[in-house]
Parts: sequence; structure tokens; C-alpha cells
Amino acid sequence: MSTRPTRLPSANRILYGADYNPDQWLNAEAILDEDLRLMQDIGMTSVSIGIFSWTALEPRPGVYTFEWMDALMDRLHENGLKAFLATPSGAKPMWLSETYPEIRRVKPDGRRDPSGGRHNHCPTSPVYRTAVQRINRELALRYGKHPALALWHIGNELNGECHCDLCRRAFQDWLRERYGSLEALNLAWWTSFWNQTFTDWSQIPTQSRCIDALPVDWLRFVNDQHVSFLENEMAPLRELTPEIPCTTNMMGAHPTSNYAQWAGVLDCISNDCYPLYDDRDTNGNKFLSTDFTHSLMRGLAKGDPWILMECSPSSVNWGKINKLKRPGVHELEVLQAVANGADVIHYFQWRKGRGGYEKYHGAVMDHEGSTRSRVYQDCARVGKILQSLQPVAGSKTKRAPAAILYDWESRWALKASAGPKQSRETDLQMRACSEQFRALRQAGADVDVLPVGGDFSRYRMVITPALYLLTPETAGRLTAFVRAGGVWVASCLTGYVDANNRCWRGGFPGPELRKVFGLWNEETDYLHDDERILLNGELFNGLESAVASDIVEHLHAEGAEVLAEYASDFYAGSPAILRHALGEGWTYYVGARLSEDAQRAFYTSLLEDLKIKRDTLPEGVFRKTRTGPDGPVEFLFNYNRTPVTLDTGTETYLRTATGETLSGRFQLKPYDSLVKGLISTPSSLTRQPTESHEHEVLPVLC
Ligand code: GAL
Repeated sequence: MSTRPTRLPSANRILYGADYNPDQWLNAEAILDEDLRLMQDIGMTSVSIGIFSWTALEPRPGVYTFEWMDALMDRLHENGLKAFLATPSGAKPMWLSETYPEIRRVKPDGRRDPSGGRHNHCPTSPVYRTAVQRINRELALRYGKHPALALWHIGNELNGECHCDLCRRAFQDWLRERYGSLEALNLAWWTSFWNQTFTDWSQIPTQSRCIDALPVDWLRFVNDQHVSFLENEMAPLRELTPEIPCTTNMMGAHPTSNYAQWAGVLDCISNDCYPLYDDRDTNGNKFLSTDFTHSLMRGLAKGDPWILMECSPSSVNWGKINKLKRPGVHELEVLQAVANGADVIHYFQWRKGRGGYEKYHGAVMDHEGSTRSRVYQDCARVGKILQSLQPVAGSKTKRAPAAILYDWESRWALKASAGPKQSRETDLQMRACSEQFRALRQAGADVDVLPVGGDFSRYRMVITPALYLLTPETAGRLTAFVRAGGVWVASCLTGYVDANNRCWRGGFPGPELRKVFGLWNEETDYLHDDERILLNGELFNGLESAVASDIVEHLHAEGAEVLAEYASDFYAGSPAILRHALGEGWTYYVGARLSEDAQRAFYTSLLEDLKIKRDTLPEGVFRKTRTGPDGPVEFLFNYNRTPVTLDTGTETYLRTATGETLSGRFQLKPYDSLVKGLISTPSSLTRQPTESHEHEVLPVLC
């Protein structure tokens, strides 16, 4: 985990902006003038620029055409806007790809990508690394002292794997470094199974279905390559502009990018988040999934503010179904990010381009070109709301009493293992994390999400959903936490394998955690999709639908107290949930995937036992608090698509959509957002956003 202190583009100020691509409009100067005026009109403070602009900046090797960028930077500054200047490595210039095919990524089947596309460079290629450093150095030399420059935005959504010969050789070197000898590697990878023993380093491939340790090490290697690629990009920037922070936009709990490791080299955390609006989501689960992602970002930032680098003010264009966001949803999503610690809100994108893959993607400015659009008006209101929320800028989010530990390596090991039900197809670890996050939130708990290596020592309760890969080091930290008075809740699929995806001997959960949990997990049953196992236990409060599905572990108590039992099949009467005292603390073990209401009943009873404060808001209504220098600011959201009655007693809330103040008993509208504790009520929220240019239709310029 990072030891670098967080450095944001603007301390103690909420920034509002968008990805801005004026290089797509260089033949339509008038549009650029309009853009700057309208950005100010809706309260924008910053733009991300130059993300895919390499050829516009360097059309031929060593020939630079910075003039348009010079003018843009100057005009941004004149108009009071800050620049998040991107390094252009996210999309390779054609001239470079054609001259050096080795910079193009190779797919697992050995096919090399064509020249075009984006996010598809080889992260190992020395040619590409050198070219990237050169253009980055030019950018730093030219704009490093420019007053508009606030942040380096490194590449874009760096991710993915390249299976070229360069990467394969680098992987083999990486393994040699890690294991020292082939004997050690063969042992660690259990290669005597099916005669997979390597007799020369050069035989080692980048993928395998029969050596299930290989994909885990491969993804560790891929991450190391991305991190060193980032460091290579940042080297000239940090040398020439040490005062400008660097970040790269992450993609939430991305399946193959271990951002806990990336966080260690960045100056601040930034994320792209595109929850697809789902009108069939009746219980707000979609919003809770977004809360999970935001909480993970907060965890990576160690509670400091972070950047929402991209979100859509309307629909996206890449989903299977691209619904328009219903009234209230966009505003709720923006405030939800702020409530979770975001100090920067940037959209993708400012203006819809006329062509290309994303011409129908949501944007602040539509093709029609006027300010009358629903989305523009929404964005203008959001600009005002963010202005009024400035008092929370820079504040840490209040630490929750409970933390979920999220682990990329367990995710990879589970996916690589044939055995746990459909583990190769189903993302069991991610599913377990989001289900338990949801259950805890629905039971009324405030929850943080930390990467497994994070500092959880000051939490009251730590939850480790499907912590399948468990090293002695992590097991030791968690055990010490319990001994010192903490509560550790583990779920099925805990402690099956070591760092090399080899099963622990001596009985699950390993390593040597049987004594810690006071139980033995003898075997694991994987159920048919429609099969359910009944559960018995006082903590379910007579809930008829308390059942387990999918994964059921056959457990035996070895000192632990049984809180619930299975009530059907051959394991009827054997323990399903157990509690065990250790030192000053407790462990809990939940041996099956519980139904949603059973999970919730379990956490409700646990929170009550532990006297952890529970919020008892109506179903689908959630709150989150940030504390600024002027006191706490509470955000309250209705995640339901239906109205809900709320009684706040004498507490007064502000409805951000209208500026009304509300107290006592009142109706929350569908997707309503309320705020309590603002310094002053922003009266401007009640008036229309655009005054002088209201509903203006711009001429067709291009
Ligand atoms: C992001 C990407 C943007 C844009 C956006 C569309 O993943 O960084 O450049 O493509 O998706 O949703």
C-alpha cells in the first residue's frame, strides 16, 4: 500500500469538469469559443485534455504541432479553468505502430493487433516506453510552468495483457527473480501434475489451464509491468514538474488490475465510474454496487479525497441496453461520489463528437448544440450544488466501524481454480464482496472497503468475503487483530490456498486457522442453480427464506459455538454459522452463500450484539457523512425508483434538486438527494441555471 501522501490538483476545493477533446474540432474555432463560455456558465473549473492527442501534437516523428495546445492552455487560464493534461499513451500514433509493429499488443491466441485502436500497446516494449518518455518530456518542458496546469493525467485506463515474445521473456525473467531456481518454481507451481515440469526457463508460457498457479503469477507480473510503465511515464514529469501531482484513471474493482499496488506510485487516486442506469432495479442494488466501488477508492486513498475522473451525465453507448438516466439519477450519482469522498467530478465528455465509436455517448453538450437540453440543465444545476458543497472539500470521510477486505489475488486464484463451483466462469470473490457489502449496508451499517494489505487495525469489525488465497502473513495480521479485541467475519471459501494457489494442508481454513475459528471445513458442496439448503438459527428470527445456495461447506465445530445449522440434506444438523472467542475478540464463520435476507438478518443480529450503531432508515434509503472544518455534512439518498416517506423530526434537510428545506414527515421523491449541514442554503439552486444564454441555439458550425 501507498506511503505517498495524497496530493490533489486543488487542495480544499471541489473541482467540476469533463474530458474535453477540442482536437476533434480544430476546424471549428467558433465551437471552442462557445465551449469555454458555456463551461463557465455551468460552473466548471477544470478539463481533462490531450488524452488521445498524440498525432495532433506530433504528426510525424519529432515534428511537433503544439500551437493548438498552446492556445488552449492559454485560453483555459484566461477563463479560470484548470488543465488535467494527459500524456497521450492511451492510443498509439499510427506512424509509430506501422514503423514498430512490436509496440502493438499480442492476443492470447498469438495474433498481433492492427495499428489502430486504443489501450492496446505492449507495456514491455522498450520502443514504446522510449517514445512515451520523449513526448511526455516535451509536454513537461512546454507546459510544466503553465499556470493552467494542475494535474498530470497519465495515459488512460491502462489495463490488459500482452502475450508477445517480449512480454513472455520478461515474464520468464520476472519468475527467475521471484523463484531463484527452476526447481523452486516447479515445486511452487506443482508442475509434476500432468508432467508439466519445466527444464528450461524459456519453456514457460504466458498462460496455462492445467498449471493453476501460473495465471496468478502472470497477473502479478502484468501488474508489475503496468506499474513500471506508469513509473516510466512519470519519470520526466516528476523530474521537470515535481510540484504537479500525477494520477491515472482506474476502473473500480477491475478484474485484473491490482490497484492497491498502483496506489503506491500515484499522488492521488482517480477512478472512472459508469453505473448503467437500470429501470428494473427495484431495490437500489445498482446504487449499492456503486457505493462499493466508491468505498474501495476511498480505501485506496486511505480515507483522503479522490477524483471521479469520468462519469456520464446521461446514458453511455456501450451497454447492451443504454437507458437514459431518469430525473434525479445523475444528480444522485454525483452527490453519492462526493459523499464517498470525491473532491473532483469530471464527466466523460464535454461535447459529443460527430463521428467515431462514441458519437452517441452521453455528454454535457449534445449534437443539437443548445443549452436547453435536459442534460445541460442538469449539469448546470449540479455545478451550483457542487459550489455550495465547497465546505466539505479536503475533508476525510468518517471512518466506518466495519471494513470489508477486498483481495485481487484471491479473485485471480479462484478464477484460475477448477473446482469451486464454476469458478472459472463466475467471479466468486467479487460476488461475495458485493453481496456482503450490500447486506451490511441494508442492515444499517456504515462500511469501508480496504484492499487486503490495508491497515484495518482500528476497525471494530473486519469482513473477509471469500478470502480464498490466504498467506500466513495476512492470516497473522487478522489473528492479531482478533486477539487485540477485533471481530473477524469470514465467509465460505476462506483459506483454501497459499500464494501459489496450492491447497493448504491440515484442513481448511488454512493456514492454521482452524484454531482461530474453532472449526474444521471438511468438504464443500456445490449446488445446482435452483437448489436451496434450509437454515435454522435464532438469528434468522423465523425467516422462512433463510436458505443457502450455490456453495455449502460441511463444517464441524472444534470449540466454536454454533449460531445456525443446516436444516436439510445429509448435513442437516451440522453447523452453518459459528462464533469463536479468541483473546479479546471474536471470529465468525459463515459456511455457505446465504440468501439475501438471511445474510441481512445475520448482520443485523451481529451489529446488535456488537452494539455497532445501525441506521434504521426506510428500505432503500441510505446516508453518508463527510466532516469538513465547519462540521459534518450528511448526504441522504433515496435509491428507490418509488417515493418513500421519511420522518426527520426536527432535523432540517435541503433537497438539492429544488433548494427546498424539509423537516418532519415528508415524501422522498424517486432518486431524491438531500443534504444536511451545509454552511448556507444555496438560494441559487431554486433559479434557472443559465441566464444570459438561456435556451440558446448555437449556429451549426461544422
Ligand atoms: C472510458 C474511457 C473514455 C470513454 C468512456 C466512455 O472507459 O476512458 O475514454 O471511452 O469510457 O464510457
